[in-house]
Amino acid sequence: MSKPSNNPPEGLATRAIHFGYNPHDEHGALTPPLHLTSTYAFETTEAAGEVFAGEREGFVYSRVGNPTSDLLERRIANLEGGEAALATSSGMGAITALFWTFLEAGDEIITDLTLYGCTFSLFGHGFPRFGIKVTHIDMTDPANLEAAINDKTKFVYFETPANPNMRIIDIAAVSKIAHANGVQVIVDNTYATPIITRPIELGADFVVHSATKYLGGHGDLLAGIVVGRLEEMIEVRTVGVKDMTGAVISPFNSMLILRGLKTLELRMERHSQNALKIAQMLEAHEAVEWVNYPGLDSFAQRDLATRQMAMFGGMIAFEVKGGFEAGKAVMNALNLITRAVSLGDAETLIQHPASMTHVTYAPEEREAHGISEGLIRISAGLENVDDILADLAQALQKA
Ligand SMILES: Cc1ncc(COP(=O)(O)O)c(C=O)c1O
Repeated sequence: MSKPSNNPPEGLATRAIHFGYNPHDEHGALTPPLHLTSTYAFETTEAAGEVFAGEREGFVYSRVGNPTSDLLERRIANLEGGEAALATSSGMGAITALFWTFLEAGDEIITDLTLYGCTFSLFGHGFPRFGIKVTHIDMTDPANLEAAINDKTKFVYFETPANPNMRIIDIAAVSKIAHANGVQVIVDNTYATPIITRPIELGADFVVHSATKYLGGHGDLLAGIVVGRLEEMIEVRTVGVKDMTGAVISPFNSMLILRGLKTLELRMERHSQNALKIAQMLEAHEAVEWVNYPGLDSFAQRDLATRQMAMFGGMIAFEVKGGFEAGKAVMNALNLITRAVSLGDAETLIQHPASMTHVTYAPEEREAHGISEGLIRISAGLENVDDILADLAQALQKA
């Protein structure tokens, strides 16, 4: 049976369902098998030595590789347009494994103003203890990068869209400046997924994901992914995960993400459709102060978003008139929409970053980094949008 060759590449949904797996290699099993094993048997001691020495292919121990996770890694690398990927135990596991592979005391990182709360905390509290300096700049203007880079700069790191305020960073423009200065670019593609944006095709060197979110898609696991060039990904596997963090993914979670990927394109379409309708409804509502959603005509970076994103995704930031006190009343009045952190699930989720995901910023840091105290984040789910809109409408009456 001929399976997708990827030469020329098939569509993203086809690859998300088929890439890298032929059922006839596995007794005709339509679904890839789950290899629940910590270690691997060798026929001879010599064979073991050869595999350990890298002279022959094979698995040795599941902290270093597992057949189910290997399929997930090859599939995500393919979707992202990268050479290789590494799956990890969480998104923070992916970010730390990547950085601990390459950073040394004295190195510097340049990043945008807005980051997920725990990445901000790693940069602000974790790295300085090890002699690594992180500088925040407004990367929505790539010219700021040119001025900030110095000979110690090793990486440029950003999220696009950024969690939680939906800032968009121009991946191609930033990568061009970084590369001209010998600096590598890491993009956190959690919000967009490869269905919407493929940073490596736009010039980035590495992509990281919280696969806990859209890639898994069902709110039932934690996982992360790093994608990059083969040589460097071998280092991330052997240094970042094997030696430094041990942040290996469970093969069971790899199987769940492989299952999630089968519907990734469908889900991103529905998340995007629902989010647009929610954003339009919020924007038209008299109780709402502002809405940030890249699919709205009013979105400040509409041109860049249209250029860089195939759809506009499921995430929305908005503020109720009267700030968080009024926003809290709205959040507490919701019945269907669930008050919870995380995102990318089938359920529509709502949260208040200043008191939840972004409490790692001091109040003055949030202000300086573009995260207003009243900002509310919605992760549009997959429910019938009329039900989401009805729940929001009744709750907004409490504002
Ligand atoms: C943009 C982004 N990056 C990274 C992470 C960290 O991922 P995890 O929670 O899987 O460790 C998150 C988590 O919310 C996130 O939103």
